[in-house]
Amino acid sequence: MEPIVITIDGPAGAGKTTISRNLADLLSYRYVDTGALYRGVAYCAEKACVNLTDEKQLSSFLQNLKLSLVRDAAGGLKLVADGEDITALIRTPAMSMAASKVAALPLVRSWLLEVQRKLGREKAVVFEGRDMGTVVFPEADVKFFLTADLSVRARRRYAELPEESGQSLDDVFADMKKRDEQDAGRDLAPLVAAHDAIYIDASKFTIDEVLGQMMVFVRAKSGSG
Ligand code: DC
Repeated sequence: MEPIVITIDGPAGAGKTTISRNLADLLSYRYVDTGALYRGVAYCAEKACVNLTDEKQLSSFLQNLKLSLVRDAAGGLKLVADGEDITALIRTPAMSMAASKVAALPLVRSWLLEVQRKLGREKAVVFEGRDMGTVVFPEADVKFFLTADLSVRARRRYAELPEESGQSLDDVFADMKKRDEQDAGRDLAPLVAAHDAIYIDASKFTIDEVLGQMMVFVRAKSGSG
């Protein structure tokens, strides 16, 4: 089976992370959650009190930043920034919004573009994000666009939140709607399906059904029948 690059783009809460991780496991591929990288930049910039409107400051901050994604013992991904495990710290509602904001900055996108392309060099990777199939890997072998109704996505994200988050379902719905608009409405690499992406509406299917559909395309492309 030829190693290939697979991209999965789509809005927040569509199930990209679970699907990417499972698809990567089925294929014995690595998977890369690029949203975690944007969250990592947002977290570290906030911690270092970087003024995001000051390009010189932002650029020197990025030059010194080291982010790496490491598979943890439970099969998930750990995000390490300059030696510190920040996996849990980037998963708050505030960091979701902060990540969406830094994601509109050209300097941040071009810095992460290089980081992501380096990770794709060896192929055999599943990348999930917003612009994987359109901007980062326009030549990817198989591209998926995974979406679901906003209400389904909000309910799913709400169920995953720890009780102490203090967010109601309405808060999650409103935040998600705002983030969708920010991610799809920005000038640079907006959230959009690549013209050659396979579009899957996950509201209507279980995880296994989505994986089954994806595997048909992946097998056809990687030559395993
Ligand atoms: O997938 P996520 O919710 O963890 O992503 C957090 C934010 O990062 C999202 O609102 C937009 C941004 N992002 C992006 O602009 N491009 C990507 N490839 C991945 C994420």
